[in-house]
Amino acid sequence: MTNPANVIIDCDPGHDDAIAIIMAASNAAINIEAITTVAGNVSVEKTTLNAQRICDLLDLNNVPLAKGAQRPLVKESEVAEEIHAESGLDGPQFPEHPVKTIEEIHAADLIIDKVLTTNKPITLVPTGPLTNIALAVIKEPAIIPKIRKIVLMGGGTFGNWTPAAEFNIYGDAEAAKVVFESGVPLTMFGLDITHKAQATDRIIDELAAIKNPVANTVVEMLDFFKHTYQEYFGFDGAPIHDACTVAYLIDPSIFEFKHVRVDIETKGEFSYGMTCVDLLGVTGKEPNVHFAYGLDEEKFWILLKESLDSY
Ligand code: RIB
Ligand code: CA
Repeated sequence: MTNPANVIIDCDPGHDDAIAIIMAASNAAINIEAITTVAGNVSVEKTTLNAQRICDLLDLNNVPLAKGAQRPLVKESEVAEEIHAESGLDGPQFPEHPVKTIEEIHAADLIIDKVLTTNKPITLVPTGPLTNIALAVIKEPAIIPKIRKIVLMGGGTFGNWTPAAEFNIYGDAEAAKVVFESGVPLTMFGLDITHKAQATDRIIDELAAIKNPVANTVVEMLDFFKHTYQEYFGFDGAPIHDACTVAYLIDPSIFEFKHVRVDIETKGEFSYGMTCVDLLGVTGKEPNVHFAYGLDEEKFWILLKESLDSY
């Protein structure tokens, strides 16, 4: 086993965020240094409660959990309760009061501390709006050369929140601009790839055959998540967007990438939050993103099944 990826998962659970954490915690290729939460799918109070619930499900007692930004840097918060429900994690029944404790420190400060003091290269894995990452970079630029890379779910060549913008980037485009212009190596899993990772009835049935508490919880999440995607987008399955980041860290061969320039639109009336993906290199600008465009779907689902089977 090569050295594990030492990751901080910055998330807004959210069904697919939860599955990303579950996949990460199951595999020796990943060492979760910390989990941080941000306002996104639902309020940061709710995303943090959901993160506590997942930590309890996985017995992640030694992984520090810190709450982050209540709102984006500039715009007002917009939640996605129509997709993830009011709780942000409808489907499974969780105990009313979680056991997992929340660190006193703000998420951005935990990210700074971990990057500066841990003598291991830290990979940041944001799966929600990039507010905490931007706050950390703005507050302490010294972390920029010490971050191994940022592996994010967000953006794409089309949108799911507006025609131009994907929810995470739209959720805080000013923060995304800070991150995409930071100079930190970026690996981006946008909708072009995550929509290929749809958990259909066939996949959910295969996961349901595993029959352990973690797998059962994932099945209950996916049953709910699938219905909202069927209702709102007419999809056959639930795209587990955020799990693509973790699957890549476990087995990069599952994906194919293009090294391209990506800029973030923060001014457009119709294009705010757009990731301007320069696939043809027409800007002549230095590429700043490894953009995922190919997925070996069979290997992806085998990885998820192996992950759940390991609990
Ligand atoms: O657009 C999909 C992204 O928005 C995912 O990260 C999902 O969890 C929501 O945060
Ligand atoms: Ca998310």
